[in-house]
This record gives sequence, C-alpha cells and structure tokens, in this order.
Amino acid sequence: MTTKLQEGILVGCGNPLLDISAPVPMEFLQRYGMKEDDAILAEDRHMPIYHELVDGYQAEYLAGGSVQNSFRIAQWILGQPNVAVFFGCVGKDRYADILRQKAREAGVNAHYQISEETPTGTCAVLITGTHRSLCANLAAANRFTIDHLEQPVNKSLIENALYYYISGFFLTVNPPSIMRVAATAHAKQRPFLMNLSAPFISQLFMQPLLDVMPYVDIIFGNEAEAKAFATAQGWAADEDLREIGRRLVALDKLNSARPRIAILTQGCDPVLLIQHDAPVQEFPVTRLAVHEIVDTNGAGDAFVGGFLSQFVQGKSLDVCIRCGNYAAGHIIKNPGCTYSGDPHFVDQ
Ligand code: AP5
Repeated sequence: MTTKLQEGILVGCGNPLLDISAPVPMEFLQRYGMKEDDAILAEDRHMPIYHELVDGYQAEYLAGGSVQNSFRIAQWILGQPNVAVFFGCVGKDRYADILRQKAREAGVNAHYQISEETPTGTCAVLITGTHRSLCANLAAANRFTIDHLEQPVNKSLIENALYYYISGFFLTVNPPSIMRVAATAHAKQRPFLMNLSAPFISQLFMQPLLDVMPYVDIIFGNEAEAKAFATAQGWAADEDLREIGRRLVALDKLNSARPRIAILTQGCDPVLLIQHDAPVQEFPVTRLAVHEIVDTNGAGDAFVGGFLSQFVQGKSLDVCIRCGNYAAGHIIKNPGCTYSGDPHFVDQ
C-alpha cells in the first residue's frame, strides 16, 4: 500500500460469528434437512449440530460472520490497521475473546456490543467435498440494538466514515440500525454498499431489503442470491443474470445523481459489473484446480473484502473487482475465510 488512509473510513455492522467448520458426510446434511451450498438460520431442530461437530468430527474454530470476514480481508490487503470499524453484538465468553483477538490481529477496529446473558453466535460450516453448507445460530448477534450506534464514540465513528458496508444478513437482526447508517451515508453523500447475502434474505426479508434499497449505491450478490431476489420480486424465474442485474440497478434510488451498480459473482465464471446505461462488463476469474481448493467458505466475503480494500483508496471499479477476485482466489486455498502470508495484488 502506498497512500496512508485515514483511520475509520470504512464502517459496517453485522453478525460476529465463530465458525465451527468440519468435513461431514452427505448423510449429516440430509439428517438435518440441509442442502449443499445453502445458508440458513438455525431452528430448534438444528441446535444439536454444533455439539455433534465438536464431539464427533474434526471441527476447526475460525473467525466468521460475513461483514467481519470482508473487513479482515480488506485490512489484510491494506496492511494498515483500523481503516475498518465493525459493529456487532457478542456474548461475554471465550468465543467472543477469540473473535476479538482475530479482529485485532487482522487490524479491524471491532466495537462490540456485549450481551451479558446470551452466548456469542456460531455458524456451523458443513463441508462436503468442495461444497459447504452454513447454519448460523445468531445467539448474541441477534441482540444488537440501535442504542449501540447511539453511543457518542460509535456515533462519531459513523459520522466520520467515508464508506459504509452492511450485509443482507443483518436485515434479520436490526433493520432500524441499517436504516440509520444508510441515512447518514445519504445525508453525507457517501457510498453505501450492501450484499444480498443468501437466498433466504430475499425469500423471507424482502420488505426490509426493499426499504433500504433506495439508499444502496453498490449491491453485491452471487448467482443464487440474485435469482432468489428475482423470484421473490415476481420477475421471470429463468431470467438471465444480466437482466436481473439491470433490474436491480433500475430499482428506485434516492440519490439519482449516483446510479446504483450491481456486482454479481458466479463462482469460477466471470464477475458481472452492471451499471446504468452501460453494457454489462465481465471480469474473468482464474479457475482453480480442484486440488488447489481447500474450501470455498467465505469466497464471496473475501471478494467483497478485496473490492473494499481498493474502493476506499478511490481506485477504479475495474481494479476493485480484480482485487475481489484476487482475494477470493486466495482464501479458497485456505480454510474458511482465512489468509496466509502477505497479499500480492498488483493493481495494474
Ligand atoms: P459463505 O456464504 O460461504 O461465504 P461467501 O463469502 O458468501 O462464499 P461462497 O462460497 O458462498 O461464495 P459466493 O457464492 O458468495 O460467491 P461465488 O461462488 O460466486 O459465507 C461464509 C461466512 O458467512 C461464514 O464465515 C459465516 O460465519 C457467515 N455467515 C453465515 N450465516 C451468517 C449470518 N446469518 N450472518 C452473518 N454471517 C453469516 O464466488 C465468489 C468469488 O470467489 C468469485 O467471483 C471468484 O473470484 C472466486 N471463486 C469462486 N469459485 C472459484 C474457483 N473455483 N476458482 C477460482 N475462484 C473462484
């Protein structure tokens, strides 16, 4: 990194989760009514998963939670601590200590709200070959309240930021907090970025998603998430991804001077950049051989992290997307959303 950035220019809210990750047989998924490559919220019937993983499989504990993942990756690439500030709620326990330490090591300035009576959230990451299925037990993450953002220190961190990123996952927790951050971004004419996060968000939380959409300058999603959004909107079920992107971009927007941008990833197929009144652009992905892939858990989050690391430096969308692909390609070769060594992204 060449230019020194102001601390705290990137602010986000999300669910701080500790990932409990293990390879499991397909039978495990079937027993819990889960599918490969899905992401769900835990119901009562899923609660035994976490103990079963720890007791019966070679489970690894990894720092998780979508926005925190993206911020850790952005910080790794930036190489300058405290550019990113993260808000979320954890319990008062060992898992929270692990998350705090991982955030600090990565250079993320985590301002956690603490729930005294609820444990830190966890996410079961069930690995079947090169696929993964996620089951999040939000626990303390679900206790986040808007008062946390109203604390004077946190309020000023939000006021002083220049870029804002919140995942769609946070819509299940506290839409008023999202609206508060989005409104600040809008009032200050600063970019507000969001992620569709998982198909279930569009299926079950469409109204709060539509409420915040007018504020969203850049929307990220993968193919399944974009298609779930399209279906929930009643757009043709077999709609082409480019057309879905065009329609996402065309949804109502408050600041019409800065038209919305959609960035849709498609695994190892090219990333689509969809902008108002411009042809769709494709950015190729260097496909990894199967033997190079450890797991794809966190690929989408790492993509966003790489993107943000360049976006906050004012780099072009082209550079931001190439860095997203670089970061995703790197973390796929590591367990969960983790990295190894120094980043080697060249921006030309
Ligand atoms: P997870 O959904 O696994 O992570 P993700 O970041 O979304 O990664 P995916 O593997 O789903 O990638 P994608 O489908 O989004 O993107 P795509 O395949 O297009 O989530 C992991 C985290 O979510 C966990 O840590 C967990 O804690 C958290 N989480 C779960 N539930 C939560 C909740 N309720 N709240 C908060 N957090 C929650 O790929 C993206 C890019 O990767 C591509 O553009 C490309 O660059 C690269 N790529 C993909 N495949 C290849 C390949 N074969 N070769 C080379 N590059 C590739």
